[in-house]
Amino acid sequence: MILEQIIQAVRECGEMILKADRTQAATEIKDGQSNNLVTKYDKAVQEALREKLLAIAPQAHFVGEEEDVHESIARGDAFIVDPIDGTTNFVKDYKCSAISVAMTHNGGQEIGVVYNPYLDEMFYAQRGKGAFCNGKPIHVSDKPLKQGLTLFGSASYYRELADESFRLLRLCFDHSMDIRRSGSAAIDLCTIAAGRAELYFELRLQPWDYAAGSLIVREAGGSVTRVEGGDIDLTKACSVLATGTGADPAFLRA
Ligand code: IPD
Repeated sequence: MILEQIIQAVRECGEMILKADRTQAATEIKDGQSNNLVTKYDKAVQEALREKLLAIAPQAHFVGEEEDVHESIARGDAFIVDPIDGTTNFVKDYKCSAISVAMTHNGGQEIGVVYNPYLDEMFYAQRGKGAFCNGKPIHVSDKPLKQGLTLFGSASYYRELADESFRLLRLCFDHSMDIRRSGSAAIDLCTIAAGRAELYFELRLQPWDYAAGSLIVREAGGSVTRVEGGDIDLTKACSVLATGTGADPAFLRA
């Protein structure tokens, strides 16, 4: 079955991250931004995934982070891949990064797989079939935000959003028990899906950051929208807000 094959491919690539010789992880900067890093391991994991995933579904488009070709996902099958979500964590040896693979059909999410090799946690979901971590069903939290945690991403590649990010973060801080910042959007979304936190937001993410994790949240019973309302868009960057069933994010839009 295709889901199991994708999980196997992702697990094998997780080994590449764990075995990486970080002394060899010389970094390049992306898009001329000194805080947007890419290492030879991002590229190597992406190439390994390309080979393995296209062997599973040769007809699919492959949309990966470490390349500038964003083929249309509107028609047919596509893989949307982040080889190392949390590249800065990887470079810093912070041990909080994940491989994220989504499979779409005619633009709709069919499969999402997010693997955190450091904790050996494999999150996955298939449209209409629920969400799982290491074989066990997962569900979002039903707690109100007052009894919950807010996760956020600082959209650090888009410094012009910093004032608004931190204004919203302050509101979240006032409405929840505390805040957390992991450095991996894919892991944040899975943390919401697993009911370990109640609300996550980031003002700008790329589709490969959220394509898999957002399906996992929805299949775990949660909600994923843009921060300003409306559906997320898998074809371009957008804001992302994910919540469990008990957290009311209305205060963010007031
Ligand atoms: C980044 C991480 C981070 C988020 C950034 C993303 P990358 O992905 O998900 O948590 O705040 O917006 O770009 O660049 O490490 O793959």
